[in-house]
Amino acid sequence: MYKIAVIPGDGIGKEVMEATLHVLEALDVGFDYTFANAGDEYQEISGEALPQETIDIVRNSKACLFGAAGETAADVIVKLRQELDLYVNLRPVKSYPGTKSLFHDLDFVIVRENTQGLYIGLEEETEEGATALRVITRKATERICRFAFDYAKKTGRNKVTAVHKANVLKKTDGLFKDIFYKVSEDFSDIETDDRYVDATAMFFITNPHMFDVIVTTNLFGDILSDEGAGLVGGLGLIPSANIGENAGIFEPVHGSAPRHAGKGTANPSAMILSAVLMLDYLGENDAARIVENALIKVLSEGKIVTKDLGGSASTMEMAQEIKNKIKN
Ligand code: NAI
Ligand code: MG
Repeated sequence: MYKIAVIPGDGIGKEVMEATLHVLEALDVGFDYTFANAGDEYQEISGEALPQETIDIVRNSKACLFGAAGETAADVIVKLRQELDLYVNLRPVKSYPGTKSLFHDLDFVIVRENTQGLYIGLEEETEEGATALRVITRKATERICRFAFDYAKKTGRNKVTAVHKANVLKKTDGLFKDIFYKVSEDFSDIETDDRYVDATAMFFITNPHMFDVIVTTNLFGDILSDEGAGLVGGLGLIPSANIGENAGIFEPVHGSAPRHAGKGTANPSAMILSAVLMLDYLGENDAARIVENALIKVLSEGKIVTKDLGGSASTMEMAQEIKNKIKN
């Protein structure tokens, strides 16, 4: 029995969460859910977007499923990442059948440093304008690179590429690149490679198959992972994992999509694939493949799918169909 924190949040976050929990019922894995409040709606009734109680519930759980927040996203998910030191942002770029993916057989993973770089929040106004500090520590670089190699090894991937701009950012990205190669010495069976971030942005479009695992700093990872989402069909399909030493929060990349909320038409795939990432994180790899394969079947048939995938099914109808495939 896994203790799981569940934060549905706002808008379609609640709808794709309901759909995902429905699908997970079909598995032979036991979950003990604790529901927790966060987001715009909760702020309206309580005055705060992320109560301490919710942070404690996540901290006392094995993992957390997060739907989406609305305008309070920065106060909710960004704060949770910091509070729990979730230093990895893992975003798979994988093409599934029946989607608007630009390539049919893409499957690579971006490992983005999630706690520092240009997003550390040290900005200030100066007489001339403003400055932002880019912080790259040895500790954070070593642990993100080590995670990338461990992840490659664990998931049977055989190449890790560091993405940086060390020719210009000589000190910060120079350090990142050096530590990357130092860590790689412990993983002699994995091919290593490094690329400049600008060239990488081009290769995503011209030759994305050259990538297997990418490890990079915060801002570069943010930009490249959205480019990756664009490669494989968009927001309704892209999951993510925020992982630290003691916690993991699994969430779709999309937000609360207020214009779609309340209609029951949101694509549940991104949230379901986030649950797949959670199952892998828990070591329930067989269950993860069962859910993923059921989703693939439903996507390939293309019959009972939501509007963004060219169908007319509701969120829950698509979830029910995935559940049926798991049971058969
Ligand atoms: P969004 O991701 O909520 O929606 C953008 C568009 O993508 C939607 O209008 C819809 O056309 C499409 N879309 C997204 N998810 C979909 C799904 N599951 N199925 C079908 N289509 C889908 O981004 P937007 O509109 O920029 O932001 C809305 C709110 O969400 C804002 O308040 C923002 O702050 C918040 N947000 C929260 C995030 C989080 O909680 N992690 C992340 C991104 C945005
Ligand atoms: Mg982003």
